[in-house]
Amino acid sequence: MSTVNQRISEIGIVPVIKLSNPVRDAAPLAKALCAGGVPVAEVTFRAAGADTAIRLMKEACPEMLVGTGTVLTTEQIDRAIAAGAEFIVTPGLDPELVVYAQREDKNIPIFPGCTTPTDYHTAYKLGLEVLKFFPAEQSGGLAKIKAMSAPFPMFKVMPTGGISLKNLKEYLSSSAICACGGSYMVTADLIENGKWDEITDLCKKSREIVKEARSNG
Ligand code: 3PG
Repeated sequence: MSTVNQRISEIGIVPVIKLSNPVRDAAPLAKALCAGGVPVAEVTFRAAGADTAIRLMKEACPEMLVGTGTVLTTEQIDRAIAAGAEFIVTPGLDPELVVYAQREDKNIPIFPGCTTPTDYHTAYKLGLEVLKFFPAEQSGGLAKIKAMSAPFPMFKVMPTGGISLKNLKEYLSSSAICACGGSYMVTADLIENGKWDEITDLCKKSREIVKEARSNG
């Protein structure tokens, strides 16, 4: 497992972030996440200025692992790398994007969204180790992840979509899962209203759950 994969797996939870005002919010958000024991972020290209947000989060918290999500083009991969992104997440499996990220001159971990046996076959051929399982709840949740890991035990997955404090422990109890992604600790309400302490608190609660799930496992 690469260092990035290992760090994500140790933290156990990856906040999926959409920032409409990166200049105002990126630094305080990074500090709030780190204070809650979650020094990792997937900054999505759903909002303009994702690259600015990545740069500002890294500046505010250099120890933080900052990646990017909702990546649809090779141009976004380049912008994210230039801004300091350390991993790429895509909603689906686009082999062109995977091969691009794996090129020697890019060499950045990429986690494509996969939910079907056909996706997993392609991911295997591409030499991937960690997949995003998206949208997790809507695609069959933990039951499907377990069923998929029977023929494909070589993958670890990062389920995202419908994860909350309520089902986090259940997901993390499976050895097929390296971490869960989610936006519940970085909702638009929390960010737009600068509720940084609440974000920190939600991160702390999430980390407790990660520790509990792992100590039982
Ligand atoms: C994602 O892109 O990974 C999801 O939209 C996050 O899903 P959630 O908002 O249900 O956590």
